[in-house]
Amino acid sequence: MPDIVSYLENNLTTSFIGKELHYLPVASSTQDVAREMADRGAPEGTAVIAGTQQSGRGRLGRSWLSPRGGLATSIILRPAMPAVHLLPAISALAVFRTIKGLGIAAGIKWPNDILIGGRKVCGILIEHGLTDGIVSYSIIGIGININFDTGLYPEIAGLATSLSAQLGHELPVGQVALGVYTELEDLYLQTEKPAAIISQWAAGMDTIGRRVKVQSGNSAIEGLAESINGSGHLVLRLDDGSTQEILAGDVLPIPGSG
Ligand code: BTN
Repeated sequence: MPDIVSYLENNLTTSFIGKELHYLPVASSTQDVAREMADRGAPEGTAVIAGTQQSGRGRLGRSWLSPRGGLATSIILRPAMPAVHLLPAISALAVFRTIKGLGIAAGIKWPNDILIGGRKVCGILIEHGLTDGIVSYSIIGIGININFDTGLYPEIAGLATSLSAQLGHELPVGQVALGVYTELEDLYLQTEKPAAIISQWAAGMDTIGRRVKVQSGNSAIEGLAESINGSGHLVLRLDDGSTQEILAGDVLPIPGSG
């Protein structure tokens, strides 16, 4: 049995997240594996972990590099409608809290990248399965750079970091997965208090109070990242004093803007 599976089976105390666990040494994307399982009725909390992914994918049509030594996991949730909007917040907070628990200062980049010293350590992709236009399940895909040297991969060198690089030593991938599953379940069970979740999410965000450029598709817009509204959207104060609500996009800090 792989170390990560025995670690989780021996230590996980959640009541549903990760209780049904599927480990694949190699997967195309854990998102696809989880989606097939969800379509076949897998219970809420089912988690898929891959040792490495051949076609890991990220937000905005990007690919996600998944070498061995990282955590690539997808978790099936079946949220009631209001909770769907909180999934970006709770997934980011779950990883943020786990990393903080290791003694590393991290920050959230809206909506749910986790950065350490401005470098990305975790990306999160949330996809939904719809039945008659209504969300019947959501797949929370989490990729965390843990025990590898991001400098060895030219596509992410300089932009990314890993937990081992920050700590100066490797750590069990299962320990990180356990933290994320535990925190995610805890937060998911609090989604009836959306204001509290959104304020914790915003408090962890490096983005708020900074001048940023938001890129979505071919368009870009600049402004002050002012707040996160009740729907979880980023509110940007434009130079003409008006505000714009950002639903999706890539937020880039503008150098020298504090
Ligand atoms: C991003 O930063 O753009 C999101 C990256 C999400 C990567 C994870 S790894 C596990 C899951 N499987 C995938 O193919 N993607 C997500």
